[in-house]
Amino acid sequence: MKTLVLLFHPNINQSRVNKAFIQKLEEQNDANITIRDEYAIYPDGKIDVKIEQQLMEKHDKIIFQFPMYWYSSPSLLKEWEDQVLEYGWAYGSNGNALKGKELTLAVTTGAVAENYLKTGQFGHTIDEMLSPFESTSKLIGTNYTTPFITHGVAQHLSDSELQVRSDEFISFVRKGE
Ligand SMILES: Cc1cc2nc3c(=O)[nH]c(=O)nc-3n(C[C@H](O)[C@H](O)[C@H](O)COP(=O)(O)O)c2cc1C
Repeated sequence: MKTLVLLFHPNINQSRVNKAFIQKLEEQNDANITIRDEYAIYPDGKIDVKIEQQLMEKHDKIIFQFPMYWYSSPSLLKEWEDQVLEYGWAYGSNGNALKGKELTLAVTTGAVAENYLKTGQFGHTIDEMLSPFESTSKLIGTNYTTPFITHGVAQHLSDSELQVRSDEFISFVRKGE
């Protein structure tokens, strides 16, 4: 199985958690895993739709990795969806390019898990906030599997916990390999 990890972090140089995850993944040197730092590839925000589509076609499992920004994803991922998931390719009567592939997310949140409860500060669960991805997956015919959520990364993740979580991230990416 070939896995495509699309990282959408606007500032990976300042990142602690997503950077640790990606570095650990790069260390695996796994030929079946392709990692793309989309903000670094498209610093001007101009996405090469054909290349993105070709990459999606060549992989079986697609992971969107990003930090939670304003209860959603960083904006380049939204732009990427708007442009790459074209009618007649990703959806529509002839749009079957992604059918049967796996789609999932790896998300970090600054806030702790308790904030992401119905009764918590944000009033919505993380699954509710990420539901547009699940609906998108349904439309494009991919199998949406349980996201890998790491909460409380702003203050509550020690260095040793980050190491453990990085190992768990590797297992998550490799699951089904
Ligand atoms: C513009 C901006 C918006 C953010 N919005 C949220 C948010 O809505 N919910 C949340 O839990 N954290 C939010 N955060 C915190 C980030 O999710 C957190 O810094 C990130 O997950 C840490 O990962 P990193 O170490 O890889 O940068 C926000 C951060 C920034 C800069």
